[in-house]
Amino acid sequence: MAPRIILLPGDGIGPEIVAVAVRVLDALGVTFQYEELLIGGASIDAHGTALTDETLAACRDADAVLLGAVGGPKWDSTDPDRPRPEQGLLGLRKGLGLFANLRPVKPLSALYDASPLRREVIDGTDLLVVRELTGGIYFGEKTRTESAASDACAYTRAEIERIARVAFRAARRGVTSVDKANVLETSRLWREVVIAVHRDEFPDVALEHLLVDSAAMRLVAAPTGFDVIVTENMFGDILSDEAAMLTGSLGMLPSASLGEADDGGPGVFEPVHGSAPDIAGRGIANPLATVLSAAMMLRHGLGMDAEAAALESAVDHALGDGLRTPDLGGEATTEQAARAVLTYL
Ligand code: IPM
Ligand code: MG
Repeated sequence: MAPRIILLPGDGIGPEIVAVAVRVLDALGVTFQYEELLIGGASIDAHGTALTDETLAACRDADAVLLGAVGGPKWDSTDPDRPRPEQGLLGLRKGLGLFANLRPVKPLSALYDASPLRREVIDGTDLLVVRELTGGIYFGEKTRTESAASDACAYTRAEIERIARVAFRAARRGVTSVDKANVLETSRLWREVVIAVHRDEFPDVALEHLLVDSAAMRLVAAPTGFDVIVTENMFGDILSDEAAMLTGSLGMLPSASLGEADDGGPGVFEPVHGSAPDIAGRGIANPLATVLSAAMMLRHGLGMDAEAAALESAVDHALGDGLRTPDLGGEATTEQAARAVLTYL
């Protein structure tokens, strides 16, 4: 049976970049069965909520979910009672139990000059951010009165253990666990649990601990020193945007959000960047992070390693051949980027 993929283009540039990923997937010569549904602001406009129960249920029944981006000024508000596009994304992650977010960062040599960092600093960078995705301050209790607000950050031992295992399994050279154990109680538990999982299950993998402020500094000072970075939800959000700039543009970074390997639920695959409302509809968005997310979907979600590699290689070649969208300092359009990838595929 053809793999069933739910497409959630979302808002802003989301529909433009997901359309490119679908064209590229279809060029692989494999048949996929697609169903396109609404999320984020688009769903708020149609249904009054950023994620309907029907959409979540459809995702649960699919083999994989390919998502564009959510959000935009139209739905921005500080009123806690107004629905927000981001609730769709967070509801999807929580609803599908996607606790492990993988964000690989490997700058291509063809793009070294697009990075704000010097070539000799990024040369050889090949790291993976493993971000805990369904816990921490994102999902803790929130309070709000006229004069005060709070967001609780909570983690359980089990939540830390399972993400630590994902990180240790992915390690080739070693794991850097990032926390703020000098200040936060959740971080002290985090560190204790990571040390225990390491001692009991992965004693042969090198492990170091780094405070998040120091990790932020080392990411731009000496990124080649990292292999796998494992960290809690909010630190991972921030550090992965920072790490993305090593590749020259946030427009290049794919991600995979996965649940427990044994429950077989679908993963969500999406670019790390947002909906870029400022350039939406102008045909100049860089679709490569979404194409690379589709490659991660093939590899991690559908077990199609050869097809994933073919897609990644086509992107490499297109960039090597000089393809540069505006975010990479060039003038190529979304359509030209699509054609360049299709040519090499
Ligand atoms: C990301 C995004 C989301 C997050 C937003 C859109 C809710 O920044 O995937 O990194 O904070 O997780
Ligand atoms: Mg983010």
